[in-house]
Amino acid sequence: MKYFTIKPISTEDFLILEQLDREIFPLKSQQTLFSKNTYNENAICYVAHALLNTEANCSRSPVGYINVSFTGLESEILSFGVTKNYRGQGIGKSLIGLTLKNLAAVNCKSVFLEVRKSNQTARTLYSSFGFKKTGVRSNYYSDNQEDAILMSLPHLQNIEYLSFLQSTLQKLPYYSK
Ligand SMILES: CC(C)(COP(=O)(O)OP(=O)(O)OC[C@H]1O[C@@H](n2cnc3c(N)ncnc32)[C@H](O)[C@@H]1OP(=O)(O)O)[C@@H](O)C(=O)NCCC(=O)NCCS
Repeated sequence: MKYFTIKPISTEDFLILEQLDREIFPLKSQQTLFSKNTYNENAICYVAHALLNTEANCSRSPVGYINVSFTGLESEILSFGVTKNYRGQGIGKSLIGLTLKNLAAVNCKSVFLEVRKSNQTARTLYSSFGFKKTGVRSNYYSDNQEDAILMSLPHLQNIEYLSFLQSTLQKLPYYSK
């Protein structure tokens, strides 16, 4: 079993996250500017770190992140990914869940995002948190003209949704309060 933490981004993460971003999204035309987002009060960026234990020492290394912007009532998931070797262990769910909880806490009411039509893993993950397909942007991605699926979560402040979110978070392996 590998161990992880999820924390707000810090300056030590910038360089390695930029490498990680290129690895996760080799086709992305504009890489995420982590330093810019960190100092933006309308942005949330969480980083998942794997804890690496060797005989000599214990270190931590970023293995995933989520980057979100918000303006009052609305927010958008701008970029989100987990490096290949660490997928399928609940890190993605923990990053999304914790972010939604924090967006709810700053009074955000709805969240939206765009995802490649072929990205079934991400679409399943978003659906499991209640996101619904709300539209399609045809030929949206310039590298292969793939459609973007628009998904949104319009009821973040709904009391039943908040209780669903809380119970989902409690089952997640790497959720830090
Ligand atoms: C999408 C991504 C972030 C998921 O991260 P992850 O850490 O592997 O996700 P989790 O382990 O928390 O899995 C979450 C859910 O994703 C879905 N999922 C995971 N692997 C899947 C697969 N191979 N096929 C279909 N769905 C899958 C499942 O719903 C899973 O929930 P479950 O375990 O209850 O069935 C990761 O695959 C990734 O970085 N992909 C490349 C970048 C990307 O697509 N980002 C999103 C852009 S919009």
